[in-house]
Amino acid sequence: MSEKPKFYITTPIYYPSDNLHIGHSYCSTAADTMARFKKLTGYDVFFLTGTDEHGQKIERKAHEAGVTPQAYVDHIVEGIKKLWKLMDVEYDDFIRTTDERHVKSVQRIFKQLYDQGDIYKSEYEGWYCTPCESFWTELQLKDGCCPDCGRPVEKTREESYFFRLSKYQDWLIDYIKAHPDFIQPPTRTAEMLNNFLIPGLQDLCVSRTSLKWGIPVDFDPKHTVYVWVDALTNYINALGYGSEDDTLYKKYWPADIHLVGKEIVRFHTIIWPIMLHALGLPLPKQVFGHGWLVIDGGKMSKSKGNVVDPVKLCERYSSDAVRYFLMREMPFGADGEFSNEALIKRINADLANDLGNLVSRSVAMIEKYFGGVVPAPAEYTELDRKLIDQAEGLWKSVEKAMNALQFSNALTEIWKLVGECNRYIDLTTPWILAKNEADRPRLGTVMYVLLECARIVAVLISPTMPRTPERIFEQIGVTDEGLKTWESIKTFGGAKPCSVVHKGEALFPRIDVAKELEKLEQERLAAIAEAKKDEKKEKDELPAPEEEKTVFTQRDLIAFDDFEKLQLVVAKVLKCEKVPKADKLLMSTLKVGDTERIVVSGIAKFYTPEEMVGKKVVLLANLAPRKIRGIESHGMLLCAASADDSKLRLLTVEGDMEDGCEIG
Ligand code: MSP
Repeated sequence: MSEKPKFYITTPIYYPSDNLHIGHSYCSTAADTMARFKKLTGYDVFFLTGTDEHGQKIERKAHEAGVTPQAYVDHIVEGIKKLWKLMDVEYDDFIRTTDERHVKSVQRIFKQLYDQGDIYKSEYEGWYCTPCESFWTELQLKDGCCPDCGRPVEKTREESYFFRLSKYQDWLIDYIKAHPDFIQPPTRTAEMLNNFLIPGLQDLCVSRTSLKWGIPVDFDPKHTVYVWVDALTNYINALGYGSEDDTLYKKYWPADIHLVGKEIVRFHTIIWPIMLHALGLPLPKQVFGHGWLVIDGGKMSKSKGNVVDPVKLCERYSSDAVRYFLMREMPFGADGEFSNEALIKRINADLANDLGNLVSRSVAMIEKYFGGVVPAPAEYTELDRKLIDQAEGLWKSVEKAMNALQFSNALTEIWKLVGECNRYIDLTTPWILAKNEADRPRLGTVMYVLLECARIVAVLISPTMPRTPERIFEQIGVTDEGLKTWESIKTFGGAKPCSVVHKGEALFPRIDVAKELEKLEQERLAAIAEAKKDEKKEKDELPAPEEEKTVFTQRDLIAFDDFEKLQLVVAKVLKCEKVPKADKLLMSTLKVGDTERIVVSGIAKFYTPEEMVGKKVVLLANLAPRKIRGIESHGMLLCAASADDSKLRLLTVEGDMEDGCEIG
């Protein structure tokens, strides 16, 4: 017997958080869908997920909860596993970075890289708060002081280990250029090359002495391994790399796909390949950076009250409906908007109407006209042939789309058949055929064609919607396991005449959109109130976590034409005053060439009106006017702002540039 081809797919390992939202479920659903698809098409699949449990944030949260970090993460991990069960995310292994197998392997890898000279000891320059005995980076300081206690900090040096990223930079550039499929979609390749690799890599600080909740460097235990170096190696550690039993590693590595969100592509396509290469190991075949699920164009955030809870959605609409929506709504790779309305409309249109009707109408008609017994087809007409050809060849386009992770396209193809089947019912008018005994063979053929199409659809949707196919098979009377396989849908005519159909409950009940949206809105408002309380508490008590200190995240690339639409000009502040009853707002009168205009800006916490007068600032001049506190504002002053909004500086123009000059 020939051996099955192997397929190894991973999700990122998630930070343990008690509120994993629908965005997190997106990646896991996609990975699970892909894993199921590969299994269905004959692969020996290994699907890995897990949790990334070290770091300062966990340490602090555990401390706050009065439990050990280990007890804290144990509890949360249980919740995450429950979520995956609820969503039918069926992984083969769940690795935790606190697992002994992982810890030991990270230590071995760190030691090997040190022994061979790729990791070296040096000094890390940063800031030190003596009363707190804490190191801080420039970015973490609050107004130049310790973010914990607010007292002054001193410049200091901390002994650290560094990884020689710079040594491998040219090799990686060549590798990426020679392997255009390595980073997908292709725009992300350009981002990595242009934004990080070509400008040059610096050696990476890979140990901390200030952080205790992490993996100790075993040959120098006051050092803790940098969380990303710890986390990335999970993908080989789970397979037993370097351990006594590395069978799985030998069998499945290199991974076929690391599925990751776009903001962590750079860790996976710069640090990770360099680590692997330095260890002499092959690289994963592909890192696919998917887009984000956004709400109102922005990230989900607790305080905006728009964190969508996947548990609630699954309980309300079923996990299959949620999975279908996630995979269908947006092209994989791009950002996509989540809204309750879009979800409900999709459920109603695609699932309740299109798919639900196809199955329920076919079954009801077979019950009515044939006593529930599937008739044998007689002769096929040209109309039948057209539908049969479409159904029989569908696996090819679905396979192609799925292998390119184009989940949405694959589902669109399947729904084309569903749509055609419903049209076929309208065209063949079985209720008229049923009136005439002479049309009985024709009626039987029509019923058979519909039923067989429903079977093919059920098999094709099974990777995305693991529960629905069984319900369809039950209703259309397919019991033979051989008729649920990928091979079985390549030839039309598998469904067995004489089997018995069973009318069941509607696959997806229709939802009353208006009522449902109103109910959801009420729940949302209640959640905002709750979250505001929580967030305030967190802000008061927690300094920014170490792993969230990044202030710059590359967004999607835009064309030069898009940039050219922005009209940026030099403007001179003539007058400036506070906007009454608004702590944050200043109203400036600007001179722009021969014209004057008013702009309202949220900068009053950082500049007094007196400081503003005379400044030459950068104005986005063609922004559509907007009323802010009753004042019409004509444009926007550009500023640099820190991620936590604690610092803000206006962009100003040096020298003798006149106001009105264009910038670009
Ligand atoms: N622990 C790191 C990954 C280490 S992998 C060696 C991490 N964890 S995370 O919990 O913050 O994110 C896990 C995944 O969820 C990331 O791929 C991230 O992009 C994804 N998502 C989080 N919010 C998301 C959306 N709103 N939409 C889509 N995916 C998003 O990063």
